[in-house]
Amino acid sequence: MEKRKFVEIHRGDNYGKLLYGIDARKALSRFGRTRANCIVSSPPYWLHRKYGGEPQKWEDDWVGELGLETQPDQYARHMAEVFRSARKVLRTDGVLWLVLGDTYMSNETNDPTRMRTGIQGKRIEKDKSYADAAAIHIRPAPKDVGLRFKALTGVPWRVAFALQKDGWILRNEMIWHRPDHMPSRARDRLLTGHETVFLFSRSRHYWFDREGAMAAGLPTERRRDVWTFPRGRSRGRHHAVMPTSIIEPMIRMGCPEGGVVLDPFAGTSAVGEMALKLGRNYIGIDLNETYLLETEERFSGSDFQPSESYRRTLDKLKSESIRRK
Ligand SMILES: C[S@@+](CC[C@H](N)C(=O)[O-])C[C@H]1O[C@@H](n2cnc3c(N)ncnc32)[C@H](O)[C@@H]1O
Repeated sequence: MEKRKFVEIHRGDNYGKLLYGIDARKALSRFGRTRANCIVSSPPYWLHRKYGGEPQKWEDDWVGELGLETQPDQYARHMAEVFRSARKVLRTDGVLWLVLGDTYMSNETNDPTRMRTGIQGKRIEKDKSYADAAAIHIRPAPKDVGLRFKALTGVPWRVAFALQKDGWILRNEMIWHRPDHMPSRARDRLLTGHETVFLFSRSRHYWFDREGAMAAGLPTERRRDVWTFPRGRSRGRHHAVMPTSIIEPMIRMGCPEGGVVLDPFAGTSAVGEMALKLGRNYIGIDLNETYLLETEERFSGSDFQPSESYRRTLDKLKSESIRRK
C-alpha cells in the first residue's frame, strides 16, 4: 500500500506538496508539526462563481460550497473557520495575505441565459465551462440580506472583522488596482477597478522584510498600500487564476528564503509557482481535483511526482481533455 497521498514537487533545494480533492480544514488538520511562514491565498469570493467541489459541512451545520452562502456574514464566519485551521499550521511569527473581492446586491439570478449582453455574456456564449461556473442560480434577494437592491455588500471588510474577532491582527488593507477593470453594464456608478488584499499577523512581532524585498529589486512603489497589476484572462478550466506578478511581493516580504508558503485555496497553484521560483517551499490545498491538470503544466520544469491515486486522476483528466478537443 502506498503511504504518500499527495503530489510531491522538487525544484533545486525546494519542495512543493499538493493536496487536491480535499477540504482545506480537513487537509490542514493532518499537517501535524508542519509550520508555514506565510499564507498567500485568494479564496472563493462571495457569490462570484461555483468551483464545483463536494459540498462541505460547516461548524454552524450549513452544508454547501464556500462562497455560495445566502448571507455575507455567514460566508465571513466560514472564512474565519478555515483560517483558524490554517493558523494552527502557521508559525507564531507568520503572516497571512488574503485577497478578496466585493459583491453588489442584484435582483438577477446568475442564470447565464439572461446574461447574453456585455463582455461576460459574450464569454458565456463561447465557453461552456465559464457559463457553468457563472451560473449561481440561488442568489439571495437583497431584502433577505438586509440590504437594498444595488447595494455594495462590503464583503472584504466583513471577512476582515470576522478574522479579527477570531484572533488575527489586521495590519494592512492593500488596494490591488486593476487597470483591466471588472466588466459591468451599470451606468450609475463607477466601474470596479480594484480588489482588496489584507495583511494579517498571528502575533505582535512577526517576520516581515519590506526593505529586504526592495533591496532584492522590488520597485519602491510596493512599499505603499496600493499595487497596480492587471489580472489578465484565465485560460483553461479554472476561471479565477491570480497573476503571479502580484504574488511575488507578498512572498518576498512575508516569507524568508527556504521558508514555507501555504495556500489553502490553491486552484492552479499560481502561488506555488512563484514560491518555488523564489527559493521558498510550498503547500497547496484545493477541494477540486480537476485543477491538477493546469497545476501540472505550471510545474513542467520541475520534478512532479504524483502519488498513485493522483496519477490515476491526472491520466483520467488528460484523456477527457483529449476527447474534448
Ligand atoms: C479563487 S480560486 C483560487 C485561485 C488560485 N489562487 C489560482 O491562482 O489558481 C479559489 C479556489 O478555492 C477552492 N475551494 C473552494 N472551497 C474549498 C474548500 N472548502 N477547501 C479547499 N479549497 C476550496 C476552489 O476549488 C478554487 O480553486
